[in-house]
Amino acid sequence: MAELLHTAVFGLPAPRVGKVREMYDLGSEVLMVATDRISAFDAVMANGIPDKGVVLTQMSVFWFDLLTDICPNHMISVDFDEIQGRCKQAQPELKGRAMICKKAKTIPVECVARGYITGSLFKEYKAAGLDATGGSLHGHDFAPTLVDCSQLPEPIFTPATKAETGHDENIGFDHVVDTVGKETAELLRDWTLKLYAKASAHAAERGILLADTKFEFGETEDGIILIDEVLTPDSSRYWPADQYTPGVAQPSFDKQFVRNYLETTDWDKTPPGPTLPAEIVAKTREKYFEAYRRITGKDLVL
Ligand SMILES: Nc1ncnc2c1ncn2[C@@H]1O[C@H](COP(=O)(O)OP(=O)(O)O)[C@@H](O)[C@H]1O
Ligand SMILES: [Mg+2]
Repeated sequence: MAELLHTAVFGLPAPRVGKVREMYDLGSEVLMVATDRISAFDAVMANGIPDKGVVLTQMSVFWFDLLTDICPNHMISVDFDEIQGRCKQAQPELKGRAMICKKAKTIPVECVARGYITGSLFKEYKAAGLDATGGSLHGHDFAPTLVDCSQLPEPIFTPATKAETGHDENIGFDHVVDTVGKETAELLRDWTLKLYAKASAHAAERGILLADTKFEFGETEDGIILIDEVLTPDSSRYWPADQYTPGVAQPSFDKQFVRNYLETTDWDKTPPGPTLPAEIVAKTREKYFEAYRRITGKDLVL
């Protein structure tokens, strides 16, 4: 089983390389290819998870199709014949993991919706002492005595900066208004919460809690559209509903084995990440496939 860690499409200029995806410029469109790279603690590991890129792309396809009534998105085609028609030399390894997308100018805000409090927001809530007193954080009011992974009374929009390097920082809605203007800020918030509501309702029917997720939007000549990957295990926290226990870290659908393994090593969490052992790779691969199966109700056929 081979992993695809880097891509090269002959005849096209070198891609823009992100942590996981590679982006080829096709003029008014882009060819977005998800590799099998995996990141944890903000570092990319030395080896990958075979076929993870296919899972990410196909999960995004499922969600783009389901959510298309809420807002326009960048997906044009994942049909490999069509892709090879456009990019004659695209290697067969790109099948299933490549998508032709409308090119957009990325809006520099990570649009996060949360139905549960965990991760960076729970850290800030504790650090501000709100677990004792309750109070306001980034413009939202929080009750006291919330514990890690508590459900919030209603889903909230908790945007973050899109940092070029290092960690994204949570910001208030005011900050989004300062960055993109009131009208766009309100649109991003509205769409983010509607996407989250529909996606979390679908996940709930399949026994999964969608704790939180991150969307990116971009500007095109035809207005603002949803871009990037959507509702993948890499951009979302999915928790098995039957194991939900507030107050402790929930089992995650994807990177739990990787994170647990890394905690047993002496790696200092600065990039590059170490090589993952074959057993961790195999178990993680199975988790990504399980996430696809649970969410879409079908097996991913490679
Ligand atoms: N339609 C699009 N047009 C232009 N850029 C896009 C589009 N969709 C996604 N992107 C950008 O492509 C990159 C995807 O690669 P990724 O591996 O996620 O990178 P990162 O490490 O920045 O998260 C992101 O920076 C994202 O903002
Ligand atoms: Mg990304």
